[in-house]
Amino acid sequence: MIANWKMHPDTLRLAVKNFQKIKEHAKQYSDIQTVVCAPFIYLESLVHESSERIIVGAQDVFFEDSGAYTGEVSPTMLGDMGVRYAIIGHSERRSLGETDNDVAKKVVACIKNQLQPIVCVGEISRADDYGNIVASQVKNAVSLVPPEAFAQIIFAYEPLWAIGEKATRPATPAEIKEMKILIQKTLADIGGDYAKKVVIIYGGSTNADNARDFLIGGEVDGLLVGGASLDPEVFGKMLEQAHNL
Ligand code: PGA
Repeated sequence: MIANWKMHPDTLRLAVKNFQKIKEHAKQYSDIQTVVCAPFIYLESLVHESSERIIVGAQDVFFEDSGAYTGEVSPTMLGDMGVRYAIIGHSERRSLGETDNDVAKKVVACIKNQLQPIVCVGEISRADDYGNIVASQVKNAVSLVPPEAFAQIIFAYEPLWAIGEKATRPATPAEIKEMKILIQKTLADIGGDYAKKVVIIYGGSTNADNARDFLIGGEVDGLLVGGASLDPEVFGKMLEQAHNL
């Protein structure tokens, strides 16, 4: 269960407080891996609060280890700080210019530095040829790694039309299941049985009321939670639901 705090909260104090509250929930569920992906500037403090049950992730990472790249943060820096996951190719970053090629290079950089990439894929609208769009994003994301590395990648199916405040409607569990199968099949065509090792989660307007349906009906391994993860009590309830499946 992965929280994506996006550009929230406003202060480090609140970030630490919310993380501690989520930690209280997370420690009750030894069968659930909880991850909080926070703004870069909060990561170090949150790593100090982290434990086996609740791990810290970044919301992006650059694909080079060091160099003249003003404003970027490298996977080496994140790994050294104790960050273990990085979201890659989130639609909000793709809309700021991140390309499929950037995503592919970031996947390589993460794996090389023992960071687990959470690769976001998803179509803008259902009017598009969504199956081919998502399959192509998946193929591009793994284009620079061998199938043996698939086990280290998490794919998050995040259709843009179901994300955040601009969501037109939530996806249905059946739609999520269809796309999970498509992602798995796309990877199986490339890497055969290695595709079975990939973790596939769903994100987009998930909350304490629908988490259970998405996890059961969508047959996904977890959820990438945006807005609802900003309230530790709501996110705590979602962890409980994942535990009670
Ligand atoms: P949401 O965001 O849960 O607020 O829809 C999900 C995401 O963008 O990862």
